Formats: sequence, structure tokens, C-alpha cells
Amino acid sequence: MKNILVIGATGQIGSELTMKLRCIYGNDHVVAGYIPGAEPKGELKESGPAEICDVTDCAGIDAVVKKFDIDTIYNLAALLSVVAESKPMLAWKIGIDGLWNILEIARENGCAVFTPSSIGSFGPETPRNHTPQDTIQRPITIYGVSKVTTELLSDYYFKKYGVDTRSVRFPGLISYVTPPGGGTTDYAVDIFYSAVRGEDFVCPIAAGTYMDMMYMPDALDACVNLMEADPTRLIHRNAFNIAAMSFDPEGILAAIRKYKPDFKMTYKVEPLKQNNADSWPNSLDDICARQEWDWCAKYDLDSMTRDMLEKLSARLR
Ligand code: SER
Repeated sequence: MKNILVIGATGQIGSELTMKLRCIYGNDHVVAGYIPGAEPKGELKESGPAEICDVTDCAGIDAVVKKFDIDTIYNLAALLSVVAESKPMLAWKIGIDGLWNILEIARENGCAVFTPSSIGSFGPETPRNHTPQDTIQRPITIYGVSKVTTELLSDYYFKKYGVDTRSVRFPGLISYVTPPGGGTTDYAVDIFYSAVRGEDFVCPIAAGTYMDMMYMPDALDACVNLMEADPTRLIHRNAFNIAAMSFDPEGILAAIRKYKPDFKMTYKVEPLKQNNADSWPNSLDDICARQEWDWCAKYDLDSMTRDMLEKLSARLR
């Protein structure tokens, strides 16, 4: 990788990934792609180039790719699961029509492409515990349908045109920098804001609902390490199971209470979020990522909780 375009650079993953990539590859070599209304601010804006990149505007992105001689695209444009369910056609337009634009641009300009998939790409018939890499994927959400299509279309472009597409199935991502917007796993971020602000937390997901989660530094490492991986070792491409921790609301509550013993949580289950969560696995088996590109998460629930509370407290102070 030498010239990189991050599409969705001001989003939950993009805002941190862009800065990490600039540290590794140099500020001028990483372009922050954003849509009007979500302009980069602060360090993200000051530290390197930024361009409007709307995945539905093929010509616009093609021009950016040519202008900066881009060889790697991180395509992070997407609607998360809850928002997607209320706007299914828009979710498809951004997730799939947009992806098709990116893959065509990549084919014509010789770019590698990373487009995230998710634990949401699985469905109720999928084995729930230690979900294998290759298994049933029959999601019941539009988010999941678009993620399975993302995986298939990305593999299709690799096999048919040799486009270097690679991806991971992200679990819920936890970060103190940019909040997620409209996901089923957002509660695992929101709970930290309540804990740090000294407020009680009202949990929208029922006790006993397990989902895979990951701390953002591990997620960022996954993006970079997979795109840097030796292609001759990759048996899979789109998309690798990766895992770090699996917990239910009681598990994260207990982890936070080690540091904040008075913290309280009540439940008000939101049916849409609960349905999504109930259709997703409890925990993924990430053996293929470990074997094919040496994936290994650094943070578990306790080390993530400690760091989140410390960093978020400093940020909100
Ligand atoms: N975090 C996503 C969501 O909840 C799942 O990958 O929508």
C-alpha cells in the first residue's frame, strides 16, 4: 500500500483508521473520503488530504482515485443494522450499488479493496457458538443480506477479474472516539458513556443475549494486517471471522462494576435490536484468520473495559 483512499473517513471506523494509516504510510498518502454534511474536523482535517467521496457517484470517486494515484481503497460506507432496517433501499444503494462502483473503479485502476462484513451476515440457522468460517449464511435483516452480497460480490471480482479484495466479519466495535450510529451492538458503547457520566444505563438488549465484540485498536489492526498479508497464504478472502470477546449485558455490567461498583443498569428491550441480536451468533471461530494471516486480538473484556473507562473519562472531562 502506498496511496490509500478511506471512504467513510469520518465514521466510527474511518475516523480512527484514517489516522492510523497516516501514521503508518505518511499523511499525504492517505485521503479521507467523506460525504457532504460529514466533513472531517480537527486532526483528521488538518493532518492530510480530504475529498468528497460518495459511493453512489462513480465518476467522482474515479477522479479522486486517479488524482491521488490510489492503490488501496477502504470502503467503509454503510448503514448499520438498525438504521438499515428503516431504510432498506438506501442500505442497498449504499452497500451494494456503491460497492459495485468501487469494485469497477478498482478493476480499472488496479486497486485493492477492503469492504467490511459483519456478524450480521449470519442468520438464525447458523451454528450459534464458535460459528465456523464456512457455514450457513441466511440473514433475516437487510443489513445481513447486503453483507452476504458484499462478501459474494467481492469474491466474484477477485476470481473473475483478479481484484485484490479482502475483508473481515466485524463484531460490535467499541471505541471512545467516534460513536457508532444505529447499530444493534451500540449498547456496548453507550453503557460506557453512562458509566463515565455517573448515570444509570437502560439496556435495549435482554440479559443472556451474547454477541461478539471487539475493541477498536484490534479492529484497526485487523484492517491493516489483512491488507498487508501475504496473498499466497490466503485461502479465504471475503470475509474472515475475527473474534476478541463475547459477552451479554450482564457480562459487560460486571466488568464495568469492577471499576465503578455503584453503576446501575435496568432493561427496556427494543424489539428490533433484540430480533437482530437473536438472529446473530453468540461467538465466532476465528481459526482461519489466525492460520492465514496471524490474526490475534490483544484486548479481552477486562483490558478493554479498563482502557475504555480511562480514555473516555479523560475525553469527557
Ligand atoms: N455493529 C453492527 C451493528 O450492530 C454489526 O456489525 O449493526
